[in-house]
Amino acid sequence: MRRHPIIQMVAIGAVASAIGIALALWINWFPADAAKQAKPIDTLYDVLMIVSIPIFVLVMTVILYSAWTFRMRPGQELQDGPPIHGNTRLEVFWTAIPAIILVSLCSYAYGVLTDIEQTHKGELVVQVHAIQFAWSFGYPRADGRAVVSNQLYLPQDRPVRFDIDTQDVIHDFWVPAFRVKIDAVPGIVTHLRVTPTRLGAYPVICNELCGLGHSVMRSTAHVLTAAAFDSWLAQKRAPATPAGAAGGGAPSQAQLIALGRQTFTGDGGCGACHTLAEAGTTGTTGPDLGRALRGQSQADLRTDIVDPNARITPGYSANIMPPNFGQTLSAQQLDGLVAYLATVSK
Ligand code: CUA
Repeated sequence: MRRHPIIQMVAIGAVASAIGIALALWINWFPADAAKQAKPIDTLYDVLMIVSIPIFVLVMTVILYSAWTFRMRPGQELQDGPPIHGNTRLEVFWTAIPAIILVSLCSYAYGVLTDIEQTHKGELVVQVHAIQFAWSFGYPRADGRAVVSNQLYLPQDRPVRFDIDTQDVIHDFWVPAFRVKIDAVPGIVTHLRVTPTRLGAYPVICNELCGLGHSVMRSTAHVLTAAAFDSWLAQKRAPATPAGAAGGGAPSQAQLIALGRQTFTGDGGCGACHTLAEAGTTGTTGPDLGRALRGQSQADLRTDIVDPNARITPGYSANIMPPNFGQTLSAQQLDGLVAYLATVSK
């Protein structure tokens, strides 16, 4: 004798749900968790999958099973099934059960949100400035001026509050390894809290389509030990001393060029948008600098970096390159870049 269809469906659904949940928990969905906020978010995600997979599987099982078992057979073309009237008990159940599930999950998610947004004493405040198409990070000082960097540096195990603003359109500040993200909205300052826990370098990504350079609007978050962070900040605050020139004095031309190359490929992020054979970079958002800069004077090269809209290479648009490199690069990095670009574009 054939088993009752409902028992068969439940059996198929239970097996498929178990396989689905096992697969969902086995797959490693997330990058490294580098902040205190990551664990509760990852757990929330796992719980949401454990709850939603059986519902999805149950609905699909009923649809596929019914389509197969109760399909029209030859000779039944003109037949209609028996009329169906409402079933109050069933309707109460299928309204009440989803309502209970939704309210429980919302309460749990609300608890997680409250937990990860908690304020802490002694927070480090970092300003995040968005501009088409670059990030810059400000570390306020007592005298009101901020240390500015276009890479994000954070100390390990210290709560951080980000104050996020934008100079133009809506962007979205996201560090996947910290899990959390928030929009940068013109006219207001938004906040995000994170306590980095794991040393390392993690991508900072713009997660709101903001224009032609959106995909290259990236930076790096470096989580350092507290001591390494303090010495990085102190070195950023100190009046510039030439790299490698102990005891001060002007850097040699070779030191400047080396600093310029390092800025081009690293801290300045130039290579993300520009191809330059000597530096080994292949970006295509902006012109190939090996060609575009050939034979330019050092004064023109400097203008191209700090005031990129002053002269536009034919075939490229204005307002793509961030206009704030004059602020985010140190004077010495700028001198280095000019020296380096002058050398490679001769
Ligand atoms: Cu900024 Cu996308």
